[in-house]
Amino acid sequence: MHVYIVFCHPSKESFTYSVLESFTGGLGEAGHTFEIGDLYGMDFTSDMDLAQYERETGPDPTLPVPADVEAEHGKIANADALVFVYPVWWSDCPAKLKGWFDRVWTLGYAYWYEDGEHVTPDMKIEKALVICPAGHPVEHLEETGIAESMRRVMVNDRLKGIGIANASMVILGGMAEKDPVVRDRNLERARELGRTF
Ligand SMILES: Cc1cc2nc3c(=O)[nH]c(=O)nc-3n(C[C@H](O)[C@H](O)[C@H](O)COP(=O)(O)O)c2cc1C
Repeated sequence: MHVYIVFCHPSKESFTYSVLESFTGGLGEAGHTFEIGDLYGMDFTSDMDLAQYERETGPDPTLPVPADVEAEHGKIANADALVFVYPVWWSDCPAKLKGWFDRVWTLGYAYWYEDGEHVTPDMKIEKALVICPAGHPVEHLEETGIAESMRRVMVNDRLKGIGIANASMVILGGMAEKDPVVRDRNLERARELGRTF
């Protein structure tokens, strides 16, 4: 498979970047190819401006989209699968990635209306995986309902909601303790996710 990986973290010294390296190492071992969309590295514009807002809320889904958004659509068109790697920040993705969804999941691409009915596209993406490191242990995020809310928003709405039926999330939790055993276990899990993708 060819995988487009959307990576969102400002630091290459971060644990999240190590997760990206482990995951792509595993992907390579399994013979998959990949492209990384480093949102901070490419200085991706996350704010929707007035012109795009007017396009998104206007009647014509065939109007052109901004060039950087079109470039993202092109990378997705080349891929069989999508992966998102980002840290949990305030129980969601970083704002830059939220802005990627605001701007890239455009009207006419991710959804549109026919006779007043909401329509989702027939996405050729076979699979999507969300990998997010978190400070809290996974058990805490499950008990408090935060893990479920993360899945509902990210997986059910932003991925399954636009026609990617095979979508799931893995939280690599417990990082706040800075325990090297937890770190190694999470990195091994990330590598395994790549190997078995
Ligand atoms: C601004 C900010 C907000 C965070 N919010 C959460 C949160 O809501 N829940 C959580 O479990 N961890 C949270 N964390 C912890 C990170 O998810 C955790 O440290 C993760 O392993 C990322 O580490 P890294 O920055 O070294 O990649 C937050 C960290 C930062 C910097």
